[in-house]
Amino acid sequence: MKRISDYALMAEEAIRDAGVGAGTPASLYGPIDYAMEAGGKRLRPVLMLMAADAFGDDPEKALAPAVGIELFHNFTLLHDDVMDNSATRRGRESVMAKWDVNTAILSGDTMLTQATREISKVDDKLLRNVLDRFNAMALEVYEGQRLDMDFEKMENVSPEAYIEMIQKKTGALLGCSAAIGALIGGASDKDAEALYRFGVMLGTAFQIEDDRLDTFGDPAVFGKPIGGDIRNNKQTFLMVSALARNDEDAAALRAVIALEPSDTKVKAATRIYERMEMPAVCTKAVAEYSSAAMTALKKTSLSPEKKEAFKKLVEKLTGRKK
Ligand code: IPE
Ligand code: IPE
Ligand code: MG
Ligand code: MG
Ligand code: MG
Repeated sequence: MKRISDYALMAEEAIRDAGVGAGTPASLYGPIDYAMEAGGKRLRPVLMLMAADAFGDDPEKALAPAVGIELFHNFTLLHDDVMDNSATRRGRESVMAKWDVNTAILSGDTMLTQATREISKVDDKLLRNVLDRFNAMALEVYEGQRLDMDFEKMENVSPEAYIEMIQKKTGALLGCSAAIGALIGGASDKDAEALYRFGVMLGTAFQIEDDRLDTFGDPAVFGKPIGGDIRNNKQTFLMVSALARNDEDAAALRAVIALEPSDTKVKAATRIYERMEMPAVCTKAVAEYSSAAMTALKKTSLSPEKKEAFKKLVEKLTGRKK
């Protein structure tokens, strides 16, 4: 197995070589080039390459689908920034802000098609299984994104409903990346399933951490403005956990939710979260889902040395700042 940074480098080079941002009209492909060129952690291709390497010792076989899965991820980000009205992504203007909403929609659609094209470059004997998994995952992501928006208007979202929503919008893609990589490496369906579950649990921890960083992260490192979720009344892990307490702090938070978006609103909600020790509540949940990911990993037939490589990835992500 290679180091995580080596898989990220492999992905970076493959993305560049795929030339997905070249073509005419430049008004369609230029924004794709901008979105794909740099700045992301490349987590999903890294997972796919690692899984292919772990089961088959030939990560190169997963390069095209790894580019495809990163294209899919970035397509969801272009549209997510429209839905969340986010002007900043990876420390610079989002596609929607730099161009406009129509550009984010259509260049995003183009990336989705490029994604399926690249993913279809797997061996013919895997194609049906891989495409079935990819399509099932994509539907889950859209369902999760729809619930995420529906929840903005709802006053009572249970922690269980929130977890189901993030397992769809974020967990499914991490699970699918790992499972497709495993299949490319020659894993059995049973191993691919276990690694899928590993990815879903890791994705759950990852999204809870993303929610925490949206309020408590360092904007210079995180690359997204702090407080966007509070402004949008997003049902984040912080919000659902706080409201579920049904105490005085929860009541104060409900009053803040009723306010129009402003810096005052962000400050007020942040103060309540601090008082309720929500950062620690998040950290505890992240540890629990990371440990569920490790339990799933144990169920694979991978050697201890290969499991260790995935464990390192979990550790890297749970202490992340971006
Ligand atoms: C952002 O994903 C969307 C979430 C699921 C939270 P990442 O945090 O992986 O974004 P990049 O690709 O590294 O910028
Ligand atoms: C990410 O949710 C989920 C998807 C993009 C599918 P967020 O809305 O929290 O992601 P960020 O914070 O904008 O990256
Ligand atoms: Mg969103
Ligand atoms: Mg968003
Ligand atoms: Mg977020």
